[in-house]
This record gives sequence, C-alpha cells and structure tokens, in this order.
Amino acid sequence: MRTQVVIVGAGPAGLTLAHLLHRQGIDCLVLEARAREHIETRVRAGVLEHPTVDLLDEIGLAGRLRVEGMTHHGIRLRFDHAMHRIDFADLTGAAITVYAQQELVKDLVAARLADGQPILFDVDDVRLDGVDTDRPRVRFRHDGRERTVDCDVIAGCDGFHGISRASIPAGVLTVHERVYPFAWLGILAQTRPSCDELVYARHPDGFALHSMRGPEVTRQYLQVPAGTDLADWPDERIWTGLRRRLGHGDGLDLEEGPIFDKSLAPMRSFVVEPMRYGRLFLLGDAAHIVPATGAKGLNLAVADARVLSYGLGHHYATGRWDELDRYTERCLRRVWQVQQFSWWMTAILHRIGGTQPFDERLRAAELDRVVSSRAAATTLAENYVGLPFATGWAWRG
Ligand code: FAD
Ligand code: PHB
Repeated sequence: MRTQVVIVGAGPAGLTLAHLLHRQGIDCLVLEARAREHIETRVRAGVLEHPTVDLLDEIGLAGRLRVEGMTHHGIRLRFDHAMHRIDFADLTGAAITVYAQQELVKDLVAARLADGQPILFDVDDVRLDGVDTDRPRVRFRHDGRERTVDCDVIAGCDGFHGISRASIPAGVLTVHERVYPFAWLGILAQTRPSCDELVYARHPDGFALHSMRGPEVTRQYLQVPAGTDLADWPDERIWTGLRRRLGHGDGLDLEEGPIFDKSLAPMRSFVVEPMRYGRLFLLGDAAHIVPATGAKGLNLAVADARVLSYGLGHHYATGRWDELDRYTERCLRRVWQVQQFSWWMTAILHRIGGTQPFDERLRAAELDRVVSSRAAATTLAENYVGLPFATGWAWRG
C-alpha cells in the first residue's frame, strides 16, 4: 500500500487534518487503535473556540454543531460570595460554542466515510519505520493481517499516550513539563443547567466548574487532590462539594439529578520541542497538554492540523519543504501563548496547597483585577474565545 500521508490516531487532530488534506486533494490514510464506537462515546472536552468553529464551517463540517451546539457570549467567574460576568461579545465581538468532543468526532468520522476516504479502526501494533529517511513506512495489524504502508509524511495524532512521540529517539526532544498536585473530578448529570453560561468558581475548598452538554445535561468539575480514588466520592459527596463551591452566597441554586458518568483528569502542562522528527510531525496531545482550565486542548489539536495542512499543501504544490520546516515554530508560538493562558487560569482559580498565604493573596488579587479592569477582562476574553491565525489552512499559491 502507498499513500501520501499516514495519520496515526482519529481524535480531533487526526480527523481534522484528514479533512483539510482531502480538501486540498492530498491522499491520506487514518489509523485508529480503538473501535469507532469507543471514540464516538469517549467523554472529554466541550468548548470550541471561535476560530475552531469558523474553520469547521469553512470546510462544511459545522452543520450539526451550528444546530445542536450552544453559543455562549460570556462566562461567569465566582469568588468571594459574588458572581461576575466576562462579556465576550462586548470585549471581543466573538463567542464560543459548547459542543461535546465526541459529537464533533462523530461528525468528522461520518463526513470522512461519506467522502469515501479511508479510515481503519481497531488497528493493532502500529510501528513507524524510516522516519528519518525520505521513505517512511508504517506497519500495523488489522483484521488479523500484517499490513505495510509507504508514505511521504506521517502525522502523529495519537494523543499523549500514543506511539508517535515514543518512536522518536532519546535526546531529540526537549520536554517541558509541570504536573499539578491536583486533578479534576468530572461528572455528567441528568439535570438542567443552573446557569445559561459556564461558571468558574474559586473557593477556599478548591475550584469548581459548572458546564453543560445540552438543555437536560450538565458537565461539572471539582478540584480534588492528585491521586484521588473515585470510590471515595459517592454522588452525595460530589453534590455537597459542588453546592458549597458554586452555591455559597448569591451563587447558583444548583439543580441535582442522576450522575451517569464520573471520571478523573490529571492536570498537567507539557510541551515537546521540536514537534517534528524527519518525516514525522506531532500534533495535538501527542506534542502538548494544557491544564483543562482554559478549555484549550481540543482547540490546539485543531490548530496544529491547520498549520500542517497549510505546509503540506505548499509542499505538494511546489515540491518544497520550507513551509513544513516552519511547522514547529508556527505551532509552538500558539502553543506557548495557550500554555501561558491555561497556566494563568489554573493559578488564579485553584487552591494550590503548600504555597505561601502571600502567594494565595496575589492570585486572588489577580482574579479581582480581571473583574474590575476592562483591560484585564479583555485579555482573558481574547484568549478564551481563541487567538487569530496568521495564515489560512490551505496553500493557495
Ligand atoms: P486524542 O483525542 O487523545 O486522540 C488520539 C487518538 O489516537 C485516540 O482516538 C486514540 O485512541 C488514538 N491512538 C492512541 N494510540 C494509538 C496508536 N498507537 N495507533 C493508532 N491510534 C492511536 N480541550 C478543550 O479544548 N476544551 C475542553 O473543554 C476540554 N476539556 C477536557 C476535559 C477533560 C476531562 C479532558 C480529559 C480533556 C479535555 N480537553 C479539553 C482536552 C482535549 O480532550 C484533548 O486535548 C483532545 O482530545 C486532543 O485531541 P488529539 O486528537 O490530539 O488527541
Ligand atoms: C467542559 O464543558 O467539559 C469544559 C468546559 C470548560 C473547561 C473545561 C471543560 O475549561
């Protein structure tokens, strides 16, 4: 078998890249380790930036998202017994869309199949060969058969625990990492949202977030210590925690209902440099992780796909590599801006044990400034709705 680009992993990065390449007439094969049903039901992110939605719109993939997604023109920040609103529409003219990641994945998979383009699920034992030569090759097992695909480029879109980054020899990548001493306990509950926008709460017990997935489903998170065991958090303890952190003072009158999903997400900042080794390009969580407070992981994955699509469009149109040679630099500029924003949102909203009371006060003062200065609120809003891009996703000659 031969194709131009092999894409390892059918998450937001891999599936978006596959569509952007197809729109430019570039052939690719998508390999996914899990079953289609698994990736279409995996509960993860929920916030799409304005540039992400615009991109999906431009390539005709925002149909269902525009109908079922919820457009939010602001968020609420809750601390010291008071609720404050950050008005994105007023501060930036833009909005965000709340739409579950697994719904986006469903839309992208359905569109790829409707286009008659190849995507293999349940592949096993993916191995990358000759990545540092001009004849890269991907081997894997599918349907009990050993398969080999020759290609020009490999896109490693296989997430934080995938094999792509692990295939790069030791010493090539510089790793930047910060692991936080807390995690997020996330639930999905069968209840009406108690607020029409997301509520980010800072409380002496720790951070809490009230989000949603639709008119009858809420998505909510509680800061818990790293290493927490879900078994120690029966439903009543979770509701008590959410009520305390979100409902104190004039806070939310929290609707409660059956919890049908519970999970833990560690909080981590992680970046590798460069995001490329020879013919292998890393995208999304394979190259970087942000703490979820800024709601950026999925959006960064789509942003990398956009940059690589542009570089590959240029490469196949001109035979040159110079745009692809700028891949790392272009991606990392955004990645570090987003890392800074996600780290900052995390710092001002969480309770960080073991730090000096002085530092706690500084973080609280910073949050206070966001709700009392238009300039500070605008900085938050611009980052939250999504920074603009310098180039398009397609090489137009
Ligand atoms: P993934 O989605 O991880 O996709 C990688 C794919 O590769 C998977 O389908 C995997 O099965 C497959 N794979 C792995 N190994 C192999 C292999 N060897 N061969 C073939 N396939 C392989 N981000 C936001 O933007 N907004 C949010 O609100 C937000 N909230 C979050 C909340 C939680 C609880 C969590 C956990 C994450 C959240 N994120 C959020 C982050 C976001 O979900 C990720 O950043 C995003 O999924 C990254 O996309 P990706 O395509 O890079 O990787
Ligand atoms: C979510 O709805 O899952 C969500 C929203 C905002 C975040 C993180 C997750 O910052």
